[in-house]
Amino acid sequence: MSENKYYFCDELNNVLTCFHNKIMSCCSGQDGPIYMRNYKGQKIDWNYFWTIKENAFRLMTDENIHQLPCKDCFFLREKKLSDVISPKYKVLHISNWTHCNCGCIYCARMKDSKGKIDTRVRRSDYYDMLPFLKQLYKQELLDRENLYVNIQGGDISVLKEFEPIVKECLKQGVRDFFILSNNIKYQPLIKTLISMDMATFVTSLDCGTRDLYYKLKRVDKFNDSVANLRKYASGEHPERITVKYIVIEHFNDNFETITNFINLMSDIGIKNVEFMIDNKYVNQTDLPETPKPPLHYKDLYLHFKNLCNQKNINLIVWSKLQNLIDTYLLKDNLSDT
Ligand SMILES: C[S@@+](CC[C@H](N)C(=O)[O-])C[C@H]1O[C@@H](n2cnc3c(N)ncnc32)[C@H](O)[C@@H]1O
Ligand code: SF4
Ligand code: SF4
Repeated sequence: MSENKYYFCDELNNVLTCFHNKIMSCCSGQDGPIYMRNYKGQKIDWNYFWTIKENAFRLMTDENIHQLPCKDCFFLREKKLSDVISPKYKVLHISNWTHCNCGCIYCARMKDSKGKIDTRVRRSDYYDMLPFLKQLYKQELLDRENLYVNIQGGDISVLKEFEPIVKECLKQGVRDFFILSNNIKYQPLIKTLISMDMATFVTSLDCGTRDLYYKLKRVDKFNDSVANLRKYASGEHPERITVKYIVIEHFNDNFETITNFINLMSDIGIKNVEFMIDNKYVNQTDLPETPKPPLHYKDLYLHFKNLCNQKNINLIVWSKLQNLIDTYLLKDNLSDT
């Protein structure tokens, strides 16, 4: 009898990720199988996608896993008898454009736009999502009742297709969305979705003052962003909103800026905040070794957590970052060197 151990990945089974330059299995930060590079809107050969998926699962054994780029991924788990490879997708990541009306100094997407901030609303430079979505529906490849649609970008504020995509999804029966936006532009559809408990809305404010916002984001839109948050949070289901604080060295890596942020969140009535650090310290898949975060981030994290407790705000920390905090920053034997 074979001793071979079999693995399974729910991401590979359920997720379809549409980036501007590739269509692949799992979302950013992972190295999963790629279905197609440089898609330009042509008709898709779905059987080819299925073959790639099946082959990847076939290689998920002790003997063969080393052939897969995802061999070290934390999503891999031992296969159970009940695990069946599905042709349908339950999670659709839409990130097919890179335009943005903001200029965060830490954003990798800024490289695509060569740092240019452009507020024009327009189509993706790469391919449109709506016809792609319709192909998926026609082929019955989306598990409509259980579908979770995640929209990232670029920013939705400048994507012409944003509302049509959401409306098409609603027409097809989608009941849950995850929407990331810089929140510079008020979107009535987002307010409706949050109020109906149909969307998780996440934005990165990273500060609590207009001056610092301008330094971090290079647009003077702090007041708009705060006003929009107040509108979204004043409706039903404010618990579906999360505001991030991304620690950026020499900008907002101190107690005062964190205190300003948490005080503002409390004032607006935000229920969830996320502590994040520049992902160059967490998730650098294209570098041989990820650099370690500065040691004072430990105190920032503890200060942040403490304030959240005081203000009764739920603190979210991405599992990879929590692991880094626990195993590196909070490790007992760390010296101050
Ligand atoms: C590329 S953005 C797209 C969505 C939208 N424009 C926004 O900013 O929310 C996706 C997410 O990555 C985060 N992000 C971008 N650069 C980052 C960095 N260097 N470190 C950590 N998070 C980053 C953003 O804050 C945002 O939550
Ligand atoms: S194992 Fe990891 S990298 Fe591979 S498909 Fe799954 S989530 Fe993606
Ligand atoms: S708002 Fe989002 S896409 Fe735009 S620059 Fe900032 S992080 Fe990048």
